[in-house]
Amino acid sequence: MIPAANPRAAYHRHQAEFDAAWRRVMDSGRYILGPEVEAFEAEFADWLGVRHAVGVASGTEALWLALRATGLRPGAEVITSSLTASATLTAIVEAGLRPVFADLDPATLTLDPAEVERRLTPATRALVPVHLYGNPADLTALAPLAEAHGLILIEDCAQAHGAQHAGRRVGTFGRAAAWSFYPTKNLGAFGDGGLVTTADDEVVRELRLLREYGWRERYHSAVHGWNSRLDELQAALLRVRLRHLEADNARRRAIAAAYRAGLPPALPSIAARPGDLGVEHLFVVRHPERDRLRAELQQAGVGTAIQYPVACHRQAAYAGFGAGPGSLPVTERAAAEVFSLPLFPELSDNDVAAVIAAVGALRL
Ligand SMILES: Cc1ncc(COP(=O)(O)O)c(C=O)c1O
Repeated sequence: MIPAANPRAAYHRHQAEFDAAWRRVMDSGRYILGPEVEAFEAEFADWLGVRHAVGVASGTEALWLALRATGLRPGAEVITSSLTASATLTAIVEAGLRPVFADLDPATLTLDPAEVERRLTPATRALVPVHLYGNPADLTALAPLAEAHGLILIEDCAQAHGAQHAGRRVGTFGRAAAWSFYPTKNLGAFGDGGLVTTADDEVVRELRLLREYGWRERYHSAVHGWNSRLDELQAALLRVRLRHLEADNARRRAIAAAYRAGLPPALPSIAARPGDLGVEHLFVVRHPERDRLRAELQQAGVGTAIQYPVACHRQAAYAGFGAGPGSLPVTERAAAEVFSLPLFPELSDNDVAAVIAAVGALRL
């Protein structure tokens, strides 16, 4: 069976480096917010080309704390995608904000700027584009739009470590960006982890308070904070993975290119827009009969997954935010049709050929 994702393969490929890293931490006596976290934050900020990075407990909390640290007040409206991990919504709602869903560009399934403009109201205060599947949202249009309307732009970069829009890395366009290190991400930990990046000195000061009980100094809470700390083990393991990230992304692109060259036109894939550099977090195709195709692929030994089977505005938890059925046609059609084929850097050329052959045998 070829799995859709395989985080264990990353461990085995660099086992000696990972083993050295966790042994170093176990021996150090420091397990939370220590030198490994500090080094990882510095290395990540350097890699991205921003001033600050703040490690937190997950991608969900990265987004939630970024929304809080940029000064958004409860009740404000935040425009975002509905075809995203429910985590995007968890963060927005937990920050006391009101999600407003805008429909998507059908080619990339990222926010359509014209749709965003249509959803603006006097209460809109922020914009959260999601760089879905590793493909950049149209920041050339979205960043000036945010600027023109005084909106705080916060990028959800959970699926896009290393992606570039207009020659610039995603995560450098907004006031802040939220990153997830869930194990299957392009930069994945071996547990939960997340990080916020920002160029803003005030935002970073606030984030450092919020992630540890609002402490300005130990045991003195200056503001109402939280416990959202990245641990030393995950930071040490992430430092290893960061060293291999560019090579891993290149391998993902090579696999995706082989798929695109070998798959039938009747099974179109979602790709970065021309001129952008995606990082192929997932290789997503679409077809109206996805359930049948997935069952046939399963029979042929090819694992698939669906991100996401139900758009957030159609989920019970978020259905109350005013976007009824039919209100986001591009999103709803995508949620009914998309599924992903196996894609991770350790996939062999033989596996890739086997996936292409299995898809080639489908009745499309
Ligand atoms: C688009 C998106 N946003 C946010 C998250 C939340 O990240 P985490 O699982 O680390 O909380 C994820 C990952 O699950 C994601 O894919």
